[in-house]
Amino acid sequence: MGMLEGKVALVTGGGRGIGRGIALSLAASGAKVVVNDLGAGLAGDGRDSGPAEETLAAIKAQGGKAVINGGSVADYDAANAMIEQALDTFGGLDIVVHAAGVLRDRMIFNMSEEEWDIVNAVHLKGLFNVLRPATARMRQQKGGRIISLASGSAYGDAGQPNYSAAKAGIIGLSYSTANAMAKYGVTSNVVLPTGTTRMIDSKPESKKIHDETGKWPSEHAKGTPKDPDNVAPLVTFLASDRAASVNGQVFSSYGFGYTLIEPPRTLARLEGDTAWTPEGLANAYDSYMAADMKPRPAMPFARDVDDLTPEDWTEIGEKRRYWVRKEDSK
Ligand SMILES: NC(=O)c1ccc[n+]([C@@H]2O[C@H](COP(=O)([O-])OP(=O)(O)OC[C@H]3O[C@@H](n4cnc5c(N)ncnc54)[C@H](O)[C@@H]3O)[C@@H](O)[C@H]2O)c1
Repeated sequence: MGMLEGKVALVTGGGRGIGRGIALSLAASGAKVVVNDLGAGLAGDGRDSGPAEETLAAIKAQGGKAVINGGSVADYDAANAMIEQALDTFGGLDIVVHAAGVLRDRMIFNMSEEEWDIVNAVHLKGLFNVLRPATARMRQQKGGRIISLASGSAYGDAGQPNYSAAKAGIIGLSYSTANAMAKYGVTSNVVLPTGTTRMIDSKPESKKIHDETGKWPSEHAKGTPKDPDNVAPLVTFLASDRAASVNGQVFSSYGFGYTLIEPPRTLARLEGDTAWTPEGLANAYDSYMAADMKPRPAMPFARDVDDLTPEDWTEIGEKRRYWVRKEDSK
């Protein structure tokens, strides 16, 4: 019996890329899936039922159950209809995965209002739009799993101000939902995924690879550490009963591994018995707060494990290993 037998899932953006792999994995583990996908271009333009239909066919081919939904997560009523469709078709809703996404990269000083709005509408408002009805249902039934895809860009990609803000907003909304819904047995976690999909093909360096090899990077990814399907096992675990105690966490997925990310923690503090002057604070910042350390910039992010040496890892068999940060004394 699969880990998700008897469960019903909604996967937004399930027609392509990382969402497609997640929809297939949830179905392979026994969940009945509503595969939502607008079939939009990378910039959010147009619509096409083809990608969702292709995922549906792949799920059916592996013996799973699914239906498609072609609505936009950016549309509040359409998002409500996704939850209704899950209830009407499969009689429940246990899992929501928000993987729909678009890109409109531009430096902050050149960004148009439309570029800002559409990216935030799909990623951040889209998450609210599905969570509003989904959490109402999950609160009643006292159970549910929410997995939201954010991005390492949440920590400040210079060329993606709209996307960075939306993804940081997703982390905040997920933390809030985790805190609000814990008492109803509902968990909310974030995954910062990676995978060479068309999103990565759109980067300028990918064009070079295409010119040199005749293939886009996404066409080289299958079975490699860059395969977008590598994200699905983590999401499937988080969607299962086995993850009942995993709540309010942020994971990153890259390569054949998963990183658990600590929430921001206090680094240093200055205090007085009375209020500070700006000059006094400036002096104390230089002399004490930042004297013995260099506060790290927001990026690069979650890749500090790349600096570990082979001795830092503990082998656990079957060519797998782990590393856990030792708790500091304080
Ligand atoms: N690929 C990566 O390396 C990477 C890195 C960090 C974060 N992410 C995030 O992972 C998620 C999936 O990305 P991907 O690389 O698989 O992208 P993708 O473009 O391959 O797939 C995204 C899907 O979302 C759909 N979509 C777009 N707007 C929609 C809307 N309004 N309503 C419903 N569906 C809509 C698209 O039609 C598309 O099929 C996104 O949230 C993305 O921001 C991806």
